[in-house]
Amino acid sequence: MSIGAAAAMRANVHRQNRLLIADDWRDYRLLDSGAGRKLEQAGGFTFVRPDAQTLWRPRLPDKAWAKADAIFTGGGDDDESGRWRFEQPLPERWPMAWDSVKFLCRPTPFRHLAVFPEHSVHWRFAQDAIKAQGGQPEVLNLFGYTGLASLACAAVGAKVTHVDASKKAIAFARENQTEAGLEDKPIRWILDDAFAFAQRELRRGRTYDGVILDPPKYGRGPNGEIWRLEEGLGALLDTCVRLLRKDPHAPESAAGFLVATVYAVRLSSVALAQAAADALPPKGLLEYGDMTLPHISDDRLLPTAIYARWRG
Ligand SMILES: C[S@@+](CC[C@H](N)C(=O)[O-])C[C@H]1O[C@@H](n2cnc3c(N)ncnc32)[C@H](O)[C@@H]1O
Repeated sequence: MSIGAAAAMRANVHRQNRLLIADDWRDYRLLDSGAGRKLEQAGGFTFVRPDAQTLWRPRLPDKAWAKADAIFTGGGDDDESGRWRFEQPLPERWPMAWDSVKFLCRPTPFRHLAVFPEHSVHWRFAQDAIKAQGGQPEVLNLFGYTGLASLACAAVGAKVTHVDASKKAIAFARENQTEAGLEDKPIRWILDDAFAFAQRELRRGRTYDGVILDPPKYGRGPNGEIWRLEEGLGALLDTCVRLLRKDPHAPESAAGFLVATVYAVRLSSVALAQAAADALPPKGLLEYGDMTLPHISDDRLLPTAIYARWRG
Protein backbone atom coordinates (compact mmCIF):
# COMPACT_ATOMS: atom_id res chain seq x y z
CA MET A 1 0.00 0.00 0.00
CA SER A 2 1.34 3.47 -0.82
CA ILE A 3 2.08 5.90 2.00
CA GLY A 4 -0.77 8.09 0.74
CA ALA A 5 -3.27 5.21 0.87
CA ALA A 6 -2.12 4.20 4.34
CA ALA A 7 -2.49 7.78 5.54
CA ALA A 8 -5.98 7.95 4.03
CA MET A 9 -7.00 4.77 5.87
CA ARG A 10 -5.54 6.06 9.12
CA ALA A 11 -7.71 9.14 8.70
CA ASN A 12 -10.71 6.88 9.41
CA VAL A 13 -9.52 6.40 12.99
CA HIS A 14 -11.14 9.19 14.89
CA ARG A 15 -8.66 10.52 17.46
CA GLN A 16 -9.79 12.45 20.47
CA ASN A 17 -7.80 13.97 23.30
CA ARG A 18 -9.95 13.48 26.40
CA LEU A 19 -9.33 14.15 30.06
CA LEU A 20 -10.69 11.30 32.18
CA ILE A 21 -11.92 11.93 35.73
CA ALA A 22 -12.53 8.98 38.05
CA ASP A 23 -15.51 10.49 39.84
CA ASP A 24 -17.55 7.35 40.43
CA TRP A 25 -16.24 6.26 43.83
CA ARG A 26 -18.01 6.09 47.17
CA ASP A 27 -15.31 4.21 49.12
CA TYR A 28 -12.32 6.19 47.88
CA ARG A 29 -11.92 9.96 48.27
CA LEU A 30 -9.09 12.33 47.49
CA LEU A 31 -9.34 14.72 50.43
CA ASP A 32 -6.51 17.10 49.56
CA SER A 33 -3.16 17.33 47.84
CA GLY A 34 -0.27 19.74 47.54
CA ALA A 35 3.37 20.35 48.42
CA GLY A 36 4.40 16.94 47.06
CA ARG A 37 1.83 14.86 48.94
CA LYS A 38 -1.76 13.64 48.75
CA LEU A 39 -4.28 12.93 51.52
CA GLU A 40 -6.69 10.12 50.69
CA GLN A 41 -9.43 8.11 52.28
CA ALA A 42 -9.74 4.43 51.35
CA GLY A 43 -12.56 2.67 53.14
CA GLY A 44 -12.58 4.01 56.70
CA PHE A 45 -8.88 4.96 56.81
CA THR A 46 -6.86 7.97 55.74
CA PHE A 47 -3.42 8.01 54.15
CA VAL A 48 -0.72 10.49 53.24
CA ARG A 49 1.42 9.44 50.28
CA PRO A 50 4.10 11.31 48.32
CA ASP A 51 3.10 12.59 44.89
CA ALA A 52 5.60 14.70 42.98
CA GLN A 53 2.96 16.15 40.64
CA THR A 54 1.21 18.10 43.38
CA LEU A 55 3.04 21.36 42.74
CA TRP A 56 0.20 23.43 44.19
CA ARG A 57 -0.63 24.38 47.79
CA PRO A 58 -2.68 22.10 50.06
CA ARG A 59 -6.11 23.51 50.95
CA LEU A 60 -6.82 21.71 54.21
CA PRO A 61 -5.16 22.83 57.45
CA ASP A 62 -2.12 20.93 58.77
CA LYS A 63 -4.22 19.40 61.51
CA ALA A 64 -6.38 17.57 58.91
CA TRP A 65 -3.23 16.00 57.43
CA ALA A 66 -1.82 15.21 60.87
CA LYS A 67 -4.87 13.06 61.63
CA ALA A 68 -4.01 10.53 58.87
CA ASP A 69 -3.94 6.88 59.97
CA ALA A 70 -0.82 6.06 57.96
CA ILE A 71 1.89 8.08 56.25
CA PHE A 72 4.29 6.85 53.60
CA THR A 73 7.63 8.56 53.98
CA GLY A 74 10.76 8.58 51.84
CA GLY A 75 11.16 7.34 48.30
CA GLY A 76 11.37 9.53 45.22
CA ASP A 77 8.58 9.57 42.66
CA ASP A 78 10.19 6.91 40.46
CA ASP A 79 11.86 5.09 43.29
CA GLU A 80 9.47 2.96 45.31
CA SER A 81 11.71 2.86 48.36
CA GLY A 82 10.41 4.36 51.58
CA ARG A 83 8.13 2.97 54.25
CA TRP A 84 4.77 3.29 55.97
CA ARG A 85 4.45 4.85 59.40
CA PHE A 86 1.24 3.74 61.05
CA GLU A 87 -0.24 6.21 63.52
CA GLN A 88 -2.59 3.54 64.80
CA PRO A 89 -2.83 -0.22 64.20
CA LEU A 90 -4.70 -0.90 60.95
CA PRO A 91 -6.24 -4.20 59.90
CA GLU A 92 -4.07 -6.14 57.48
CA ARG A 93 -6.78 -5.62 54.84
CA TRP A 94 -10.30 -4.21 54.73
CA PRO A 95 -13.26 -4.32 52.36
CA MET A 96 -14.01 -1.68 49.76
CA ALA A 97 -16.22 -1.60 46.69
CA TRP A 98 -16.31 0.06 43.32
CA ASP A 99 -19.82 -0.07 41.90
CA SER A 100 -20.98 -3.64 42.63
CA VAL A 101 -17.42 -5.04 42.71
CA LYS A 102 -16.19 -5.72 46.24
CA PHE A 103 -12.46 -6.07 46.88
CA LEU A 104 -9.80 -5.78 49.60
CA CYS A 105 -7.63 -2.76 50.22
CA ARG A 106 -4.31 -2.77 52.07
CA PRO A 107 -1.12 -0.72 52.20
CA THR A 108 1.66 -2.47 50.28
CA PRO A 109 5.41 -2.10 50.87
CA PHE A 110 5.67 -0.05 47.65
CA ARG A 111 3.42 2.79 48.86
CA HIS A 112 0.39 1.51 46.96
CA LEU A 113 -3.02 0.57 48.39
CA ALA A 114 -3.64 -2.50 46.19
CA VAL A 115 -6.00 -0.41 44.05
CA PHE A 116 -5.37 2.36 41.51
CA PRO A 117 -8.71 4.20 41.86
CA GLU A 118 -8.18 6.29 38.71
CA HIS A 119 -8.51 3.07 36.70
CA SER A 120 -12.26 2.96 37.32
CA VAL A 121 -12.68 5.08 34.17
CA HIS A 122 -11.43 2.12 32.14
CA TRP A 123 -13.35 -0.52 34.10
CA ARG A 124 -16.52 1.37 33.12
CA PHE A 125 -15.35 1.66 29.49
CA ALA A 126 -14.58 -2.08 29.33
CA GLN A 127 -17.90 -2.98 30.97
CA ASP A 128 -19.81 -0.82 28.46
CA ALA A 129 -18.01 -2.49 25.53
CA ILE A 130 -18.66 -5.98 26.97
CA LYS A 131 -22.35 -5.26 27.59
CA ALA A 132 -22.75 -3.76 24.10
CA GLN A 133 -21.25 -6.84 22.51
CA GLY A 134 -23.44 -9.29 24.44
CA GLY A 135 -22.75 -13.02 24.70
CA GLN A 136 -19.56 -13.91 26.54
CA PRO A 137 -16.74 -11.72 25.20
CA GLU A 138 -13.17 -12.73 26.05
CA VAL A 139 -10.88 -10.19 27.70
CA LEU A 140 -7.11 -10.35 28.21
CA ASN A 141 -5.79 -8.32 31.17
CA LEU A 142 -1.98 -7.99 31.11
CA PHE A 143 0.00 -6.82 34.18
CA GLY A 144 -3.29 -7.41 36.01
CA TYR A 145 -2.03 -6.60 39.56
CA THR A 146 -4.78 -7.20 42.16
CA GLY A 147 -7.36 -8.10 39.56
CA LEU A 148 -9.89 -5.28 39.73
CA ALA A 149 -10.13 -4.79 35.96
CA SER A 150 -10.53 -8.56 35.58
CA LEU A 151 -13.32 -8.62 38.16
CA ALA A 152 -15.09 -5.61 36.65
CA CYS A 153 -15.11 -7.40 33.26
CA ALA A 154 -16.14 -10.77 34.73
CA ALA A 155 -18.95 -9.10 36.70
CA VAL A 156 -20.69 -8.13 33.45
CA GLY A 157 -20.29 -11.46 31.71
CA ALA A 158 -16.81 -11.56 30.17
CA LYS A 159 -14.50 -14.56 30.18
CA VAL A 160 -11.20 -13.19 31.46
CA THR A 161 -7.55 -14.18 31.12
CA HIS A 162 -5.55 -12.36 33.79
CA VAL A 163 -1.73 -12.33 33.54
CA ASP A 164 0.77 -11.17 36.13
CA ALA A 165 4.37 -12.11 36.91
CA SER A 166 3.98 -11.97 40.68
CA LYS A 167 2.68 -14.93 42.70
CA LYS A 168 1.67 -12.54 45.48
CA ALA A 169 -0.32 -10.32 43.11
CA ILE A 170 -2.13 -13.34 41.64
CA ALA A 171 -2.89 -14.68 45.13
CA PHE A 172 -4.29 -11.29 46.12
CA ALA A 173 -6.34 -11.07 42.93
CA ARG A 174 -7.85 -14.48 43.70
CA GLU A 175 -8.73 -13.29 47.21
CA ASN A 176 -10.45 -10.34 45.57
CA GLN A 177 -12.41 -12.73 43.37
CA THR A 178 -13.73 -14.41 46.53
CA GLU A 179 -14.38 -11.08 48.24
CA ALA A 180 -16.36 -9.98 45.17
CA GLY A 181 -18.45 -13.17 45.26
CA LEU A 182 -17.38 -13.88 41.67
CA GLU A 183 -15.80 -17.34 42.28
CA ASP A 184 -18.09 -18.93 39.73
CA LYS A 185 -17.04 -16.52 36.96
CA PRO A 186 -14.63 -17.76 34.28
CA ILE A 187 -11.31 -16.10 35.09
CA ARG A 188 -8.01 -17.81 34.15
CA TRP A 189 -5.27 -16.66 36.53
CA ILE A 190 -1.93 -16.93 34.71
CA LEU A 191 1.48 -16.47 36.32
CA ASP A 192 3.65 -15.47 33.37
CA ASP A 193 5.59 -12.75 31.65
CA ALA A 194 2.97 -10.56 29.94
CA PHE A 195 4.78 -10.15 26.62
CA ALA A 196 5.86 -13.79 26.40
CA PHE A 197 2.29 -14.91 27.16
CA ALA A 198 0.77 -12.55 24.59
CA GLN A 199 3.17 -13.81 21.91
CA ARG A 200 2.39 -17.42 22.78
CA GLU A 201 -1.33 -16.72 22.51
CA LEU A 202 -0.73 -15.23 19.08
CA ARG A 203 1.17 -18.34 17.93
CA ARG A 204 -1.68 -20.49 19.26
CA GLY A 205 -4.12 -18.49 17.14
CA ARG A 206 -6.09 -17.24 20.16
CA THR A 207 -8.14 -14.06 19.84
CA TYR A 208 -9.78 -11.71 22.34
CA ASP A 209 -12.62 -9.21 22.24
CA GLY A 210 -10.80 -6.80 24.53
CA VAL A 211 -7.25 -6.29 25.78
CA ILE A 212 -6.28 -4.22 28.83
CA LEU A 213 -2.62 -3.51 29.60
CA ASP A 214 -1.10 -1.57 32.47
CA PRO A 215 2.64 -2.11 32.00
CA PRO A 216 5.00 -0.75 34.64
CA LYS A 217 8.07 1.22 33.69
CA TYR A 218 10.25 -1.73 34.65
CA GLY A 219 9.33 -5.25 35.65
CA ARG A 220 10.44 -8.86 35.64
CA GLY A 221 8.69 -11.96 34.40
CA PRO A 222 8.62 -15.05 36.64
CA ASN A 223 11.63 -16.49 34.79
CA GLY A 224 13.67 -13.33 35.05
CA GLU A 225 12.43 -11.84 31.74
CA ILE A 226 13.19 -8.12 31.80
CA TRP A 227 10.40 -5.69 30.91
CA ARG A 228 11.40 -2.11 30.05
CA LEU A 229 8.52 0.03 28.89
CA GLU A 230 10.41 2.31 26.53
CA GLU A 231 11.94 -0.66 24.72
CA GLY A 232 9.03 -3.08 24.78
CA LEU A 233 5.82 -1.06 24.48
CA GLY A 234 5.66 -0.82 20.68
CA ALA A 235 6.02 -4.58 20.17
CA LEU A 236 3.62 -5.33 23.03
CA LEU A 237 0.94 -3.00 21.60
CA ASP A 238 1.40 -4.60 18.19
CA THR A 239 0.98 -8.10 19.66
CA CYS A 240 -2.10 -7.04 21.66
CA VAL A 241 -3.80 -5.55 18.60
CA ARG A 242 -3.07 -8.70 16.60
CA LEU A 243 -4.78 -10.69 19.36
CA LEU A 244 -8.05 -8.80 18.85
CA ARG A 245 -10.63 -10.84 17.01
CA LYS A 246 -11.28 -9.97 13.39
CA ASP A 247 -14.28 -7.86 12.50
CA PRO A 248 -16.72 -10.23 10.73
CA HIS A 249 -17.85 -7.34 8.48
CA ALA A 250 -14.30 -6.30 7.57
CA PRO A 251 -11.96 -9.30 7.97
CA GLU A 252 -8.83 -7.19 7.42
CA SER A 253 -9.79 -5.18 10.49
CA ALA A 254 -10.24 -5.92 14.19
CA ALA A 255 -13.16 -5.50 16.57
CA GLY A 256 -13.46 -5.06 20.32
CA PHE A 257 -11.50 -2.72 22.57
CA LEU A 258 -8.01 -1.96 23.79
CA VAL A 259 -6.96 0.03 26.86
CA ALA A 260 -3.32 0.94 27.58
CA THR A 261 -2.21 2.95 30.61
CA VAL A 262 1.24 4.22 31.53
CA TYR A 263 2.59 5.66 34.77
CA ALA A 264 5.71 7.50 35.76
CA VAL A 265 7.60 7.71 32.50
CA ARG A 266 8.53 10.69 30.38
CA LEU A 267 5.98 9.82 27.74
CA SER A 268 3.15 11.95 26.40
CA SER A 269 -0.27 10.43 25.78
CA VAL A 270 0.14 11.67 22.19
CA ALA A 271 3.15 9.36 21.82
CA LEU A 272 1.25 6.49 23.43
CA ALA A 273 -1.74 7.02 21.14
CA GLN A 274 0.46 7.26 18.05
CA ALA A 275 2.26 4.04 18.98
CA ALA A 276 -1.15 2.38 19.43
CA ALA A 277 -2.41 3.86 16.13
CA ASP A 278 0.52 2.25 14.28
CA ALA A 279 -0.81 -1.13 15.34
CA LEU A 280 -4.56 -0.45 15.37
CA PRO A 281 -6.89 -1.11 12.45
CA PRO A 282 -7.94 1.91 10.42
CA LYS A 283 -11.30 2.50 12.02
CA GLY A 284 -12.88 3.15 15.39
CA LEU A 285 -12.39 5.79 18.06
CA LEU A 286 -8.97 6.28 19.63
CA GLU A 287 -9.07 8.37 22.81
CA TYR A 288 -5.97 9.47 24.68
CA GLY A 289 -4.96 11.86 27.41
CA ASP A 290 -4.56 12.17 31.16
CA MET A 291 -6.29 10.10 33.81
CA THR A 292 -7.14 12.11 36.91
CA LEU A 293 -8.74 11.92 40.34
CA PRO A 294 -11.04 14.71 41.53
CA HIS A 295 -10.69 16.28 44.97
CA ILE A 296 -13.83 15.90 47.04
CA SER A 297 -14.27 19.51 48.07
CA ASP A 298 -12.83 21.65 45.28
CA ASP A 299 -12.40 21.59 41.52
CA ARG A 300 -8.73 20.61 41.35
CA LEU A 301 -7.75 17.40 39.57
CA LEU A 302 -4.82 15.15 40.40
CA PRO A 303 -3.17 13.73 37.26
CA THR A 304 -2.09 10.14 37.81
CA ALA A 305 -1.29 8.44 34.49
CA ILE A 306 -1.68 8.68 30.73
CA TYR A 307 -3.80 6.40 28.60
CA ALA A 308 -4.76 5.52 25.06
CA ARG A 309 -7.88 3.46 24.42
CA TRP A 310 -9.65 2.31 21.31
CA ARG A 311 -13.03 0.88 20.54
CA GLY A 312 -13.77 -0.60 17.15
C1 LIG B 1 -0.15 -2.86 37.35
S1 LIG B 1 1.50 -2.82 36.87
C2 LIG B 1 2.12 -1.30 37.33
C3 LIG B 1 1.37 -0.19 36.79
C4 LIG B 1 1.11 0.72 37.86
N1 LIG B 1 -0.16 1.30 37.71
C5 LIG B 1 2.29 1.66 38.07
O1 LIG B 1 2.27 2.38 39.03
O2 LIG B 1 3.27 1.65 37.33
C6 LIG B 1 2.20 -3.72 38.11
C7 LIG B 1 1.94 -5.19 37.90
O3 LIG B 1 2.69 -5.66 36.79
C8 LIG B 1 3.26 -6.89 37.18
N2 LIG B 1 4.42 -7.14 36.31
C9 LIG B 1 5.62 -6.54 36.32
N3 LIG B 1 6.41 -7.03 35.33
C10 LIG B 1 5.68 -7.97 34.69
C11 LIG B 1 5.92 -8.82 33.58
N4 LIG B 1 7.09 -8.81 32.94
N5 LIG B 1 4.93 -9.63 33.17
C12 LIG B 1 3.74 -9.66 33.81
N6 LIG B 1 3.46 -8.88 34.87
C13 LIG B 1 4.41 -8.05 35.31
C14 LIG B 1 3.59 -6.74 38.64
O4 LIG B 1 3.69 -7.99 39.29
C15 LIG B 1 2.41 -5.93 39.14
O5 LIG B 1 1.36 -6.72 39.63
